[in-house]
Amino acid sequence: MTLPKETEKKGFVQDKFASVSEKYDLLNSLLSCYVDHYWRMAAARELCMYPVETVLDLCAGTLPLSHELVRQMPRRVVSVDFCHDMLKYGVRHMKKGYERAILPVCGDGEMLPLADSCCAGITVAFGVRNLARLDRGFSEMLRVLRPGGKLVILEFSRPSLPLFRGIYMYYLKNILPRIGGLISGDTEAYRYLAESIEAFHAPDQLARMMASAGFAQVRYYPLTFGIVHIHTGIRAS
Ligand SMILES: C[S@@+](CC[C@H](N)C(=O)[O-])C[C@H]1O[C@@H](n2cnc3c(N)ncnc32)[C@H](O)[C@@H]1O
Repeated sequence: MTLPKETEKKGFVQDKFASVSEKYDLLNSLLSCYVDHYWRMAAARELCMYPVETVLDLCAGTLPLSHELVRQMPRRVVSVDFCHDMLKYGVRHMKKGYERAILPVCGDGEMLPLADSCCAGITVAFGVRNLARLDRGFSEMLRVLRPGGKLVILEFSRPSLPLFRGIYMYYLKNILPRIGGLISGDTEAYRYLAESIEAFHAPDQLARMMASAGFAQVRYYPLTFGIVHIHTGIRAS
């Protein structure tokens, strides 16, 4: 498939996630052999120095990372996503007691419905690749982060070990869309997943983009042989 153009990307992404929302969590766990839980655990741990304070979970989807953030620490999580069906599924399956901590908000990450400097931390799991205008997303993240606050990005990447990379890319492009299509009924959504991972910025490029957007102390490291990377950055002032 050809990836959507920047002007069509928002509508395309919204439609695709709405179409797979009911099977999204199941497929995530199945296709990653449950390793996605560990990745989100590692991302949430990056914010352990900000207990109690409000965290924005951007591109929150069905709220898996929002749950993990609250499971690790009692805190308020504002969970923003522009796909109503993804949030609705997350709300319907919210764990008991978590509704007091998690506030789901239907909104656009490129135009956040939040006040300046209102969050101590921001997490974006598998979301930055889906933003139509990443530059706008970064400037909104900086605006709502308080000085000293931390941004944590969890995103897919391409493994660097040549043999493993070959096997993984074969799985991503040939096997994953078939399983995803069979279970969700939308093969295109899982083709988009594979193609968008292949086309996305390499981790060092993403780190440079974060730094030029204004984040300080930008760091990144791989998990699971580079299938994903965690990037972090601080709002300096
Ligand atoms: C791959 S899902 C990630 C869901 C969740 N964070 C997780 O860990 O599984 C990406 C989500 O980003 C959302 N998204 C993409 N662009 C967005 C935007 N501009 N504003 C808000 N949400 C957006 C999609 O609707 C989708 O729910």
